[in-house]
Amino acid sequence: MSVDVSNIKISPVSKSKIDTVDFDQIPFGRVFTDHIFQAQYKNGQWGDMEISPLEHFSLHPSNLALHYGQSIFEGMKASADKNGTPLLFRPEEHARRLNRSARRMCMPEFPEELFMEALTELVTLDRNWIPDRPGSALYIRPLMFATDEFLGVAPSETYTFVIMLLPVGPYYSKPVKLWADTEFVRAVAGGTGEAKTAGNYAASLLPSKMAKDRGCDQVLWLDGKERKYVQEVGTMNIFFVFEDHIATPELDGAILAGVTRNAFLTLLRAKGYDVQTRKITINEVMEKGQNGQLKEVFGSGTAAVATIVEEVRYKDEVIKFDPEAAEVGPMLKQTIEDIRHGRQEDLHDWVMRVE
Ligand code: COI
Repeated sequence: MSVDVSNIKISPVSKSKIDTVDFDQIPFGRVFTDHIFQAQYKNGQWGDMEISPLEHFSLHPSNLALHYGQSIFEGMKASADKNGTPLLFRPEEHARRLNRSARRMCMPEFPEELFMEALTELVTLDRNWIPDRPGSALYIRPLMFATDEFLGVAPSETYTFVIMLLPVGPYYSKPVKLWADTEFVRAVAGGTGEAKTAGNYAASLLPSKMAKDRGCDQVLWLDGKERKYVQEVGTMNIFFVFEDHIATPELDGAILAGVTRNAFLTLLRAKGYDVQTRKITINEVMEKGQNGQLKEVFGSGTAAVATIVEEVRYKDEVIKFDPEAAEVGPMLKQTIEDIRHGRQEDLHDWVMRVE
């Protein structure tokens, strides 16, 4: 059976696979809901919009995205309130950031109104997949990629945009150890660091593997020019709780403008903290970590929420933090979870109800 909702053709599955999923143990990124939204771009416009059972793509080996990386994505979350109504967290911000990434990667924007319509239809159809376990959510992954079958280095003229949904547990299930890398960089000024594009993540894989080989969980990226200023972690932005203020690196074009980062800045300021976005050197972090002036470090991100950092390593120095003593990160995590589930008043108008 097929039904039309405005321009989106909806073809639901004949039988949901939800009964095959163990919601008590959902690994991040491996379990997908029944449906996917797809739209095709050709002749300068988006069309062929449909929500259908999730299935594999068929791609020509010369697919331009595979060769030259014209691919961008977003990560956002839906939760449910106590009555089971789906709540989307800051969907417009994600639509806008997707389009900023599109502009940087020479790809077409996806109209914000259409983004919202596709998202609400898809989440409505798969709303039973929103997990209710603490720390879990329905992760939403919008993705746009080039589809021209052409080996010339040029922007594609055709694209596919999809939205897929995944019930997820926490991305990091425990506090993390960071390796401040002096050899590799994630992004440089004027590069693509601010875009949520596939290549940024590909570039992080080898250094991340090396960090893991050294007993750390992730890389703490330093700036590409001087290897002096802290930037971000790749899967999350980074916050430092000093004894008299809280700081996070200022956006410099090479750092992803995190939606959760922005929410934390707003929440902290509303709670009266002195919060600064500024340049932070790795030397300041290590020195203040050693002498006790740096109290706590945590990461922020859609997937990571607020992840406590228990150790930072830089060259042959190590600073350690007692995860049990962390206060600000856990407070922000609880606050954002409460807002996302409708348990706390949404003072900043961040939550969109999908009725
Ligand atoms: C997110 O937090 O949504 C991300 O995109 C980070 C990561 C899982 C790639």
